[in-house]
Amino acid sequence: MDLLVVGSGLFGLTVAERAASAGRKVVIIDRRDHLGGNAYSVTEPATGIEVHRYGAHLFHTSNPMVWDYVNRFTGFTDYVHRVFTNHEGIVYPLPINLGTINQFFRAAYTPAQARALVRELAEEFDPKAASNLEERAIGLVGRPLYEAFVRDYTAKQWQTDPRDLPSEIISRLPVRYTYDSRYFNDKWEGLPVDGYAAWLERMVENSNIEVRLGVDFFDESQPLSRKATVGQLPIVYTGPVDRYFDYSAGDLAWRTLDFEQEVLDVADFQGTSVMNYADAEVPYTRIHEFKHFHPERAEIYPRDRTVIMREYSRFASRDDEPYYPVNSPADRASLLAYRELMDGERDVYFGGRLGTYQYLDMHMAIGSALTLWTNRLASH
Ligand code: FAD
Ligand code: NA
Repeated sequence: MDLLVVGSGLFGLTVAERAASAGRKVVIIDRRDHLGGNAYSVTEPATGIEVHRYGAHLFHTSNPMVWDYVNRFTGFTDYVHRVFTNHEGIVYPLPINLGTINQFFRAAYTPAQARALVRELAEEFDPKAASNLEERAIGLVGRPLYEAFVRDYTAKQWQTDPRDLPSEIISRLPVRYTYDSRYFNDKWEGLPVDGYAAWLERMVENSNIEVRLGVDFFDESQPLSRKATVGQLPIVYTGPVDRYFDYSAGDLAWRTLDFEQEVLDVADFQGTSVMNYADAEVPYTRIHEFKHFHPERAEIYPRDRTVIMREYSRFASRDDEPYYPVNSPADRASLLAYRELMDGERDVYFGGRLGTYQYLDMHMAIGSALTLWTNRLASH
């Protein structure tokens, strides 16, 4: 074995695939019973509908190197992501655009009129001087749009009143003064034609790669533990950085999500893939309906049934799946301490979302793994 990769998410898979293609013998371990990390999907058995097991995953990138790389393993559909939100029983398009504004104010403003209105409403606060998230948001879009579309949704995401949240959580609140409601601005966007699982499994087809599932790096009863391997060979570690150092510089805070999946005997539950729920009365933040991610599978998918998933957000404990970094000032201080510890750990390369305590979209995880391979591991 020339390289041990801890974690089979897109970061670990990309490094492993590159190393194997260059002739290295690679072992990937993952403590889960499947590879692919959070991008993994399964076929819901009663309906045959592909379900993104850890929440909806939309692939998008403007990076030609990443786009070229992922296309070696899968084709992508021409799916274009759009999101809607239910506020007081009325459905609006997101992100806030001219359609949202005109529907909300029951108006027919031109782009210039809408821009002038928002500017006037936003005069209440200077976003640069805001002392909390609420003031920042009002300073950017004005109170009416904030109260309808931002306040309760943010409170549900963080289980915290936005007046008690730091203003830095939002740097911008995009408002589009056109009717363009496309969610992503990237050059390429789509979903893997045969699903995420097929894509991720194709990345480990090289016979130089061995995948061992259900193996925890910190379980000293197994032969590829931290204790048995660190210092023996190069290791790419994509698990939580605080766990690696036994939480010696403190626990890094994460938010996690709870998912509630349901198979319904209706042809179409909500007419679209993602519906947000903007109001406090509804406890979940959004509902995913998976058949809408693949309109091209209409012939294969059942006509009379559908799969939906309600998403709830909360702070993670050590036993929960860590999803989004909280990134409070205390977390940033801990992270600096962990970075020093990482620098002192020879031949261990920390990467990915958990290993760097950073939210990374798939294309970012892949891009940074390609860079790690090229700049540091290829010549190792
Ligand atoms: P992960 O996928 O988390 O993989 C890390 C792996 O390490 C896991 O499989 C874990 O089991 C394993 N591991 C951890 N500790 C150990 C241990 N001790 N021993 C062995 N194995 C261990 N990106 C997009 O581009 N578009 C989206 O729409 C999108 N939606 C997302 C929604 C959610 C809810 C989340 C959480 C992420 C989303 N992402 C999205 C991001 C995407 O999932 C990540 O970019 C990608 O998963 C990053 O891969 P990674 O390898 O860094 O981490
Ligand atoms: Na302002």
